[in-house]
Amino acid sequence: MAPISRVVRIVIGRAGLQLYLTALLFTALTLGAVSPAIAQEVLDPNPVVGSPAQDPQRNSNGLAQTPPMGWNSWNKFACNVNEKVIRDTADAIASNGMKDAGYQYVVIDDCWHGQRDADGFITADKARFPNGIKALADYIHAKGLKFGIYSDAGAKTCGGRPGSQGHEYQDALQYARWGVDYLKYDWCSTGTRNAEEAYTLMSDALRASGRPVLFSMCEWGNAKPWLWAAKVGNLWRTTGDITARWEGKHGYSLGITTIVDFNEPLWPYAGPGHWNDPDMLEVGNGDLTPAEYRSHFALWSLMAAPLIAGNDVATMSQQTRDILLNRDVIAVNQDAAGVQGHRVWKQGDLEVWSKPLADGGRAVILWNRGTQPASITADWGMLGYPRSLKLNARDLWAHKELGQKAGSYAATVGAHDVVMITLRS
Ligand code: GLA
Repeated sequence: MAPISRVVRIVIGRAGLQLYLTALLFTALTLGAVSPAIAQEVLDPNPVVGSPAQDPQRNSNGLAQTPPMGWNSWNKFACNVNEKVIRDTADAIASNGMKDAGYQYVVIDDCWHGQRDADGFITADKARFPNGIKALADYIHAKGLKFGIYSDAGAKTCGGRPGSQGHEYQDALQYARWGVDYLKYDWCSTGTRNAEEAYTLMSDALRASGRPVLFSMCEWGNAKPWLWAAKVGNLWRTTGDITARWEGKHGYSLGITTIVDFNEPLWPYAGPGHWNDPDMLEVGNGDLTPAEYRSHFALWSLMAAPLIAGNDVATMSQQTRDILLNRDVIAVNQDAAGVQGHRVWKQGDLEVWSKPLADGGRAVILWNRGTQPASITADWGMLGYPRSLKLNARDLWAHKELGQKAGSYAATVGAHDVVMITLRS
C-alpha cells in the first residue's frame, strides 16, 4: 500500500499538502496542550462511575419490613428434596400453629433443578417434582403461605445444579411465571465474579419480572454486603454455614455461638427491609440441649435475624414446637422498630444483650455461655435507662409478668441457657 504522504500528495498536490500538514500539527497541539481532559475522558477504559448498588436514586423493593419468617429445606433435608417433602411441610406449617405465629415462606433450597430447556429456561427435576414447580407454588399459595426457591450467582449451585450466571433475567422471568415470592441466591462457582455486580444484576432482574420477590443473598459475608447491599437484597448472610453444634468450626460449618460472635457487631447495618442473616435455624436438628436451642432461638430473635426454621416441622417434638412457636420471643424479633439487638455487657461467659423496642421498651437476654448455673444482672445503665426508673418486667420463656423492677434485674441462668425478658414502663 502507498504511504499516506504519497497518497495525499497525489490527491491534493504540493500546496494542499502543506495546508494538510499544518492542520494536522494544529490539531495535535490543540489536543495535547489545551484539551488533555477531553482526550483522556474519551479514551479512559475504566471511567469512575457510581456503584449501581449504592446509587442514591435506587429504591429498596419495599419487602421484609420485619425479618422474614418461614422454613427452608436445607438444614434438615439437604439435597433430598422432593414434592412430597415440600407439600408435607406446607401442610404442617398451615395447621400446627406456625402460620398463625408468622411463619410464611416455604423455601426449597438446592437440588430442585433439572436442566435448561432448548431456549435456556430452567426446569425442575422431573423425578423429584413430577407436577412441576408452578403446581407446587399454587399448592403453597392455596394454604395462605408464600413460596421460595434457590439459585446461585455462578455457573453451578453448591450442589452442582445449573446456576443463574448468564441467565439472570430469564430465570427471574421463569420464577415470576411459577409464582415465586422469595429467592435465596448462593455464591458457589462464581470464580472472580464481583459480588456487588452479581447481586445487583439479579436484584434488577427480579424487579424487572414485575413480581415482588424477597431477595435473600447468600454470599457468606465475604464481600461485606452490609456495606453496600441495603437496597439490593432484603437479607444477606454474614457468615459461613451453620451446623447444629453449640460452638466452634466444623469443616466449612460453624457452631451457634461462633456465628453469634460474627453477627453481633454488624448490628448497626440492619433495619427494616435489610437484615443481617446469621443463617437458618437449627432448632430441632442435631442433639443440642433444650437450653441450647432456647439460647439459639432467643439470640436470633433479639438480633432481628430472619426466623427460617430448618427442621422437619411435620414430625417435630412438643419441645421444639414450644421454642419455635414462642410468640413472646417472636414478637421481639418482629418489633416494628427493626433494631438489631446486641451485647451490652460481658464478663467471662456471662453476657447481657439488649434490643430497643418501638414503644421505648427493651428486650433483654441474660446469657450464660458457661457450663455452670450463674447469676447475671442487667443494670438499667447498660440498657440506656436512668437507674431510678421503675419498669414492668415480663419473662418471655415462662410467659409471666414479673412485676415492677427498679435499677436492675437479676436472675440465675442455667448452663448454656438464657433468661429473656421485656422491660416496659
Ligand atoms: C451453601 C449455602 C447453604 C445451602 C447450600 C446448598 O452452602 O450457604 O445455606 O444453600 O449451599 O448447596
